[in-house]
Amino acid sequence: MSTRIEFKPASAYVGAEVCGVDLTAPLGDEELASLRRALGEYGVLVFREQSLTPEQHIAVAESFGNIDVNRFFAAVPGYPMIAEVRKDPGQKSNIGEGWHTDHSYDLAPALGSLLYARTVPTLGGDTLFASMYAAYDALSDGLKHTLDGLQALHSSRHVFGAQRVRDWGDLQGRLMNTGSATQDAVHPVVIRHPISGRKALYVNPDFTVGIDGWSQAESRGLLEFLYQHAARPEFTMRLRWRENTLAFWDNRATWHFALNDYHGQARLMHRITLQGVPLLPGADTGALTVVAAT
Ligand code: SIN
Repeated sequence: MSTRIEFKPASAYVGAEVCGVDLTAPLGDEELASLRRALGEYGVLVFREQSLTPEQHIAVAESFGNIDVNRFFAAVPGYPMIAEVRKDPGQKSNIGEGWHTDHSYDLAPALGSLLYARTVPTLGGDTLFASMYAAYDALSDGLKHTLDGLQALHSSRHVFGAQRVRDWGDLQGRLMNTGSATQDAVHPVVIRHPISGRKALYVNPDFTVGIDGWSQAESRGLLEFLYQHAARPEFTMRLRWRENTLAFWDNRATWHFALNDYHGQARLMHRITLQGVPLLPGADTGALTVVAAT
């Protein structure tokens, strides 16, 4: 029952630890509704001490939506729906270093991901999250008004494509399907969050390539300001992983950043990403419709 669930905020603006939920058992309708609402509100839900098999991880994910199979990174052997986020002791590069939100290059960007910690370093390997609600709310009324009317271009090509400019270092060999990195999408710079109905800033340093209708130089100036603003420490939380922790984040409300400060140690995470919906502009367009399911 949802009355058992307790949400303990992890920082001023983003993240909550969830107590009173056993993810090895099927989630009831009330629990699911309460967790969905909380995901929309907090942006990141952290579940500790959940001993999950890959099958249970998949079952939890599927209770929140359809799985979006990762195109570009290797899957866990035997589980094509689970992407392997792995760094071996001999490797220098990791997956996810740098602020980003996953799949913003898709026409219907991923709802979010459920990342499960299998092996963690003794120290380091934390993940940072930033609230895109807080980033938007803290802007001046004048800039909010300007951003409300803008759209941004997002792409996968420069990060994952055959002509990519991103240096993947010693992860290069694990990157797959570079020929299918052809996704481009245009989304509002300020979206109306599909669960909470709140306005959120929706541009990110990895995948946003410009403001629609603006020159590169104009876009760069605005985007660089927004990136610095959105990464302000007070909008962030830092997740210290323990083995058997599962974090469920919402890509429309947050950015994340995987710290790469544990060279010589192993870190192995299993990631399942969920399909999302096309994003609507934040600017009021009449009656507000909040989509409860995703
Ligand atoms: C990711 O960007 O999805 C990886 C996050 C992490 O490993 O902490």
